[in-house]
Amino acid sequence: MTKNILIIPGDGIGQEVTVWGKAVLEQIGSIFNHQFSFSEGLMGHAAIEATGTPLPDETLEKARRSDAILFGAIGHAKYDNNPHLTVRPEQGLLQIRKELGLYANLRPIVLFDELLHASSLKPEVLKGTDILFFRELTGDVYFGEKYRSNDRNTASDLMIYHRYEIERIARKAYSAARTRRKRLCSVDKANVLESSRLWREVVQEISKEYPDVQTEHMFVDNAAMQLVKDPRRFDVILTANLFGDILTDEASQIAGSMGMLASASIGEGPGFFEPIHGSAHDIAGTDKANPLASILSAALLLDISLGLQEEGRLVMEAVRSVLKDGFRTIDIADPQTPADKIIGSGQMGRQVISRLQQLVIVT
Ligand code: IPM
Ligand code: MG
Repeated sequence: MTKNILIIPGDGIGQEVTVWGKAVLEQIGSIFNHQFSFSEGLMGHAAIEATGTPLPDETLEKARRSDAILFGAIGHAKYDNNPHLTVRPEQGLLQIRKELGLYANLRPIVLFDELLHASSLKPEVLKGTDILFFRELTGDVYFGEKYRSNDRNTASDLMIYHRYEIERIARKAYSAARTRRKRLCSVDKANVLESSRLWREVVQEISKEYPDVQTEHMFVDNAAMQLVKDPRRFDVILTANLFGDILTDEASQIAGSMGMLASASIGEGPGFFEPIHGSAHDIAGTDKANPLASILSAALLLDISLGLQEEGRLVMEAVRSVLKDGFRTIDIADPQTPADKIIGSGQMGRQVISRLQQLVIVT
């Protein structure tokens, strides 16, 4: 059976890293004899330049017809310091999440032992950390009503949640916790925000359906602190859109670098897989970007959307093997370890591809 995979490279380093995520999928296809059919779509700044809109209809149509989507990154420096621009690359990403009903964003914080020293946090604090974030992705201030007064001097973004939005992501997070260490920490700001009080109320109700999972509620400010103080205390973290956005960037430092973290967005339509890092225009075109987050996103795509668990595992093993041999892109290099071999994006991608083949022959 042919699986249709849409590749959306997006902007900046998104273009460079997605080449390797796709190459890994092609290699897996050829090793295991799967038929993957690839197409490409525009989104973000690249799409604005070509069509005037950040999410062209054509891309959305292709997305709806695909079995899974591999995305790169979005954004361009030209918009960051110019809040007056009304057409913005990020709108494309937010719109596709909404259109495809991708309400659950899974962000695994996987720490490869080989990278214990790449983090700015102490190895003894980090060792053994394994967290799975469930970030709600189609509600909250991201999609609530936006307002700017006529005199332009007052602005607001509505932080809004509906019961059903909390219920459906809570169930997904609890189901995942069941297959892990059976602990779920729900993060909110219920001491201040009404939407968080609804969040907590709903999570408390859903928790009764999962009596075997231990539930904890934590305020987001405390969670931000606990993540760097004692990350091992967490198993599944369930949280709202904005809190999840911020906490997962923080948590990426546990894994050594933003360049290591993959994510999966799932819900009603095809799954959408992307690194959590941004478009990093400052290093675009310099061969410095770390392609491993895209490659690990491809592993999640195989596992979650295509049901190919063994193939997903093989990709993880290939990454581990490259790291074990000391190959590092600059973002994960440890200045204290002279044995590290610092390589560029392209070399890192090629290393992973050749390992895939070798690991299959060995096993
Ligand atoms: C992310 C990103 C996006 C978000 C931006 C690019 C809109 O930071 O996926 O975490 O805020 O969701
Ligand atoms: Mg973010």
